[in-house]
Amino acid sequence: MANIAILGFGTVGSGVAEVLDMNQAEIRRRTEEPVAVKYILDTREFPDSPYAHLVIHDFSVIEQDPEVSVVVECIGGCGVALDFTSRALKAGKHVVTSNKALVAAHGLELLELARQNNRNFLFEASVGGGIPLLRPLSFCLAGNRIEEICGILNGTTNYILTKMIHENRNFDDMLRRAQEKGYAEADPTADVEGLDACRKICILAALAFGRHVYPEQVYTCGISGITTEDVACAEAAGMALKLLGRTFRQEDGRFVIYVSPHLVLSDRPLASVDGVFNAVLIRGNAVGEVMFYGRGAGKLPTASAVVGDVVDCVLHNDKRRSLGWGESRPADLADFSQVPLRWMIRTRAASGAVGAVFGQVEYLPGRKDAFLTAPMTKAALDGLREKGFSLLSAIPVLS
Ligand code: HSE
Repeated sequence: MANIAILGFGTVGSGVAEVLDMNQAEIRRRTEEPVAVKYILDTREFPDSPYAHLVIHDFSVIEQDPEVSVVVECIGGCGVALDFTSRALKAGKHVVTSNKALVAAHGLELLELARQNNRNFLFEASVGGGIPLLRPLSFCLAGNRIEEICGILNGTTNYILTKMIHENRNFDDMLRRAQEKGYAEADPTADVEGLDACRKICILAALAFGRHVYPEQVYTCGISGITTEDVACAEAAGMALKLLGRTFRQEDGRFVIYVSPHLVLSDRPLASVDGVFNAVLIRGNAVGEVMFYGRGAGKLPTASAVVGDVVDCVLHNDKRRSLGWGESRPADLADFSQVPLRWMIRTRAASGAVGAVFGQVEYLPGRKDAFLTAPMTKAALDGLREKGFSLLSAIPVLS
């Protein structure tokens, strides 16, 4: 019997208990031993839950119980989640987490702690919810030099944008719906302002390029500045409006990494990914492009990925997964503001002034206020804004 403890009994934690119950037979077929939840740690009581008898409030009970081999961390954030994860690893337990904030900020030290204690620290659920992504990137694509990763990495914002665009719904109502459905973060600003997507692209970049990337090193712009006019411009351009996390290797070997809303050409596979779905496109120098698609948030999809990691820990109790990366190397990162991109610009400026500043541009059909630029840097756009040029919107184009 493999005993696990679940830390945090919110959306994901309760989903883990549910999946372990619902799919007991399938899981046992793989592990060849039952996997049982021995404890659930939470500050709250759950008197009406079938798991009420497992709820405890003192982490040291788990820490000191030699029967617990795997700790599942679903608390979120970097406060007690960091403390409990470190203590669990030091106590000789594998740790599985869905917590991208923890991995993006402390992944390096926690992976090292896992190594020192000959345990695994696994986090498949931290990126892309239920989509199998980190293992394929780390192992199946290990024969590649990864050139680019570009993805819709946040279910909440993709859900909001999809509803705003296709159903003409308003932002606040759709955010509330995403919260009700259990997609949004405890503080949904992390979704809306792009920080959640940023943490996820940091984890993907670290796995792909072998160096820790901290969220503070990444240019991040979310969707709170997106207006109905931007949506109309995307429609006029025949493109989809998507929040993307992106990283790619430049010719000089440095990595560009950023999060921003984009206009995506409609024939690109990412353009048709709607609702809570996430999709991640990876380009390797041997395989070319591969795309991963599935539910990026929600109780059971995320729990599916967590339980997959639990099964891996149970199956490989005495073996370590060689998943990880080295220290951050800021010199490897390119300055996003100097990267040439095409932009969709919305402006009050007349076409003469636009031509004088941008040269040849491509106006969107039916619009005198919006056009696509030739490749230019964000630094150049910021310079124009400082000089007083009217830039109502500047959104990069993924061509
Ligand atoms: N808030 C996240 C999202 C949850 O909406 O994608 C999954 O990481």
